[in-house]
Amino acid sequence: MKLGVCYYPEHWPEEHWREDAAMMRALGVSMVRIGEFAWSRIEPAPGRFDWGWLDRAVAVLAEAGLGIVLSTPTATPPKWLVDLRPDILPFDQHGHPRRFGSRRHYCFSSRAYRAESRRVTEAVARRYGEHPAVILWQTDNEYGHHGSDESFSPDAVSAFRDWLAARYRSVAALNDAWGTVFWSQEYASFAEVDPPQATVTEANPSHRLDWRRFCSDQMCAFNRDQVDILRKFSPGRPVTHNFIGDFIRLDHRKMGRDLDYASWDSYPIGLLSEGIASEGEKIRRLRYGDPDFAAFNHDVFRACAPKWGVMEQQPGPVNWANCNAAPAAGVVRLWTWEAFAHGAGFVSYFRWRQVPFAQEQMHAALLATDRTPQPVCDEIRRVAEEVAAFPDFEKVRSRIGLLMDYPSLWQLEIQPHGNKDGPLGPARICYRACRMLGQSVDMVFPDDDFDGYDLILVPAVTILTDALVGKLARSGAVILATALSGAREETGRTSAPLPPGPLAALLGTRVLSFESLPKDVPVVVKTPDLSLAGHVWRERIETSAEPWGWFEDGSPAQVKSGNFRYLAYWPDETSWQIILQQLLDERGVPHWHTGPDLRLVHSGELVFAFNYGPDTEDLGARAIGPSDQKWLLGGPCLPPAGVAAWKAERPRKQADTPGPGSPG
Ligand code: GAL
Repeated sequence: MKLGVCYYPEHWPEEHWREDAAMMRALGVSMVRIGEFAWSRIEPAPGRFDWGWLDRAVAVLAEAGLGIVLSTPTATPPKWLVDLRPDILPFDQHGHPRRFGSRRHYCFSSRAYRAESRRVTEAVARRYGEHPAVILWQTDNEYGHHGSDESFSPDAVSAFRDWLAARYRSVAALNDAWGTVFWSQEYASFAEVDPPQATVTEANPSHRLDWRRFCSDQMCAFNRDQVDILRKFSPGRPVTHNFIGDFIRLDHRKMGRDLDYASWDSYPIGLLSEGIASEGEKIRRLRYGDPDFAAFNHDVFRACAPKWGVMEQQPGPVNWANCNAAPAAGVVRLWTWEAFAHGAGFVSYFRWRQVPFAQEQMHAALLATDRTPQPVCDEIRRVAEEVAAFPDFEKVRSRIGLLMDYPSLWQLEIQPHGNKDGPLGPARICYRACRMLGQSVDMVFPDDDFDGYDLILVPAVTILTDALVGKLARSGAVILATALSGAREETGRTSAPLPPGPLAALLGTRVLSFESLPKDVPVVVKTPDLSLAGHVWRERIETSAEPWGWFEDGSPAQVKSGNFRYLAYWPDETSWQIILQQLLDERGVPHWHTGPDLRLVHSGELVFAFNYGPDTEDLGARAIGPSDQKWLLGGPCLPPAGVAAWKAERPRKQADTPGPGSPG
């Protein structure tokens, strides 16, 4: 459980560095990330490297006892390189190059840029690969941010055609997979296929799905180039990339196979303001963030690599959202502890000192532009002291797994029908319901091992393969899938047999038709003892399985067969909780009602509680917490932004295996 900061020595007079490093140490910070945007200072002219300043910065930070997270500088190619090789620039939808003057101005498919990226990575890795203070490498910065996942450059077009040829082998297979007979879209050769770009109306959804796959694969390949070089010149040092929260354009899980740490950049208040919550909810959560936003992303990234951490933690108002409120007192401490509770190996704050120039001068930092410490420093010092006194622990497997699959998310994004909650919406609502029952959740991906879970949730995961369904069946868990699950094949075509596709035979169920509805039109569902409600999605099914819930017109809404359950609709938040509660009871999994603001995180016997609300939470009144007064953090009354931790008296039944991403 290390604390870190993001630092830009190139922004400050050299005489400040030593004092900055000493202040970081005094705060309890032990790692510092540098270098991700410093190419113009590292190599001011083609082939002329200026290592002097960086050598001195690394030395000063190392002498202070800080571990250095060194980044490759490829997120910001310098002006001379853009002028020398304009073919590194990304092209927008309309075929125009995106220009120099901000960041991420490169195309992942540019052959020239791939060579430049390898060249500069090798130069940095040769220089610092063996430096004892370098404890972690970061590749680039936030792949895909600012729409940089897509580029329609000539190199991208030709790489896409090669990618398609490797995937389909014959253009006839591509025509068949995409259904190009529709609207006379048929191709006679791969050379005729362009990216889905500036079409008059909706482009072919299978074409778009493959384009997403291709763009994600290009980012993975670009990253792999750098990882290979770092492993060669800096053997034994771990490598990470800092991913973006709630971002789905990159298959993080696929890229994570090449990394030691998955890290992500957590801006809970910034993203709340940008997100789809109602205005009332945004105001209520203004200074706290959504209680399930950071947790959801922690759980995603924990599942993406052997270890994980938070590379950039919001410390105050950001500069880029619709409005930029300051976190309430104590919230930065809460976010930090929450990440550790989910198993983070580190939390690193963005950034050390507010910058008085350029694009981010209105973004808060730990220090003001004149280096006056902000009040948040007191919170960080407190966390550092608390962490030092806290027992070591490993995040162990949860009892609930939630199935995630990036191609399914892309498919949901490409053809939302009436879903206005975005492709992550169905997973988010089900995740929130689990958390409001006091549960911890592991994200599971199709190639994971599913053993040991009591419950695996499949919220509108549209692409299910036979192999995956077979694995789910063998897991021994109760599998609960909602409408749209298994509705599509890997190509994006509607499943044959009819949806739920590979689940159809197991459930003796076929989806004959479907509709989407405005969110506030309820879909009423009744079971013998419960009244439930759904929203947005409703299917008409034919089933030979046992129904356990019916729509108002008496047609089946919920069916079960063996360990599988299928809901032919999307439950609303309350109904999700009611259904889950029943299943948890069946499996003997203890649960609690947390209300909207309180959240628990379990790791074996260790339990954490977080108060995301503006009112004090009385844990005792909710029968939460130890009875013997043995609190590791906090106590039975949790003030706003309060954190508590304790060891549960009766060990919860957990799989013995450590979960993915245990810190260590
Ligand atoms: C992140 C980015 C940082 C900084 C930060 C501001 O997305 O990685 O470089 O721009 O946002 O909030």
